[in-house]
Amino acid sequence: MVDWAAHAAARTSRLKPSAIREILKLTQRGDVISFAGGLPSPDLFPTTTIGAATERVLRRHGATALQYSTTEGHPPLREWVAARYANVAADDVQIVSGSQQGLDLVAKCYLDPGDAVVVAAPTYTGALRAFDPYQVRYRTVETDDDGMVPEALEAALAAGAKLLYVIPNFDNPTGTHLSLERRHAVVELAGRYGVPILEDDPYGELRFEGAELPHLRDLAPERVIHAGTFSKTLVPGFRLAWLIASPEALEPIRRAKQAADLHTSTFVQAIAVEITADGFLDEHLVKIRDHYRSQRGYLLDALDRELGGGDGFHWTRPSGGMFVWMTVPSAADGTPADTTALAHDAVAAGVAYVPGESFYPDGGGLDGLRLSYSVATPEQINTGIARLGELLRRATLRDV
Ligand SMILES: Cc1ncc(COP(=O)(O)O)c(C=O)c1O
Repeated sequence: MVDWAAHAAARTSRLKPSAIREILKLTQRGDVISFAGGLPSPDLFPTTTIGAATERVLRRHGATALQYSTTEGHPPLREWVAARYANVAADDVQIVSGSQQGLDLVAKCYLDPGDAVVVAAPTYTGALRAFDPYQVRYRTVETDDDGMVPEALEAALAAGAKLLYVIPNFDNPTGTHLSLERRHAVVELAGRYGVPILEDDPYGELRFEGAELPHLRDLAPERVIHAGTFSKTLVPGFRLAWLIASPEALEPIRRAKQAADLHTSTFVQAIAVEITADGFLDEHLVKIRDHYRSQRGYLLDALDRELGGGDGFHWTRPSGGMFVWMTVPSAADGTPADTTALAHDAVAAGVAYVPGESFYPDGGGLDGLRLSYSVATPEQINTGIARLGELLRRATLRDV
């Protein structure tokens, strides 16, 4: 008998189960209204279009679409990605199997054990889980409704860092985006301290209002590895995404990708090319933005109604994406909020959220929680937020 636990590599001790997955398991009970998952709405999946494109790919390009292909990615898809950005050539594009793989490959190629990664607090749990096995340390940066606070970022960079991880648009978990001024501050500070930036941008195309802001990569192309994905605009099941960076920055990543999985599915890449060839994605994005914009409206209205009484509850008002971040005040008797402990009471009361703690690499966030408005119906949003409002008012000893 092999004692697998004793045989496991040291890095596996850093592979933690996802707290979000654990919450999601609890929400399988039929009567729980869940704001915990961050899944795109399946009602928006263009199934018929994908079916027709798949049939065309098989009929016209079956032999190549089902064959092994190059690690860099299917050339027409790299061209398409490059054309969606300013000043990007196909050679600057590396196709990856989900931006999650992109995060792993960047960490594998650019982080040694003990290196410090600068992240927002809170930040995307999946990024922490991708970086953890490389035995890194974290320096966290305080955020407000405009994203990372520059003074806090400067302090983190000045303490020494190997990589800065930023989600500039409609962040997971806060829903906030970096203001233009802060984008300039982020690239200026990273430049001053000589730190490369990993810009993770799955939600940038889900903007509901306001002018589009430049990518960090637009401001400092030599310093940034940018990650984009089809997961929130087309379908997550394709596992299709891209990294954009200079060919020099991508060089080790290509070698690491080749070792990991040779290349991303040729078939899926060919289908994506077929789907996007005639401008379909831009038409589809209008539908997606409309849907999430009204979902956001239902959630914010319900929160205003249930908890908007000036009792110290605060939540973000995102202009894109899928998430709202709430901070819960201390109870009237001074007891600090504990959204991890409350999550179980919430599920018992028929509503689920993700406790803030999951988004902090080294503790903290007990007063925060993430709500996703992506999949609940308007009725579920109203009922679920009424349940949450009552629970939170009771927990903080405010009027019920
Ligand atoms: C900030 C962020 N980065 C990366 C990902 C992973 O996306 P993908 O499906 O492209 O792997 C997600 C998914 O939720 C995310 O929220």
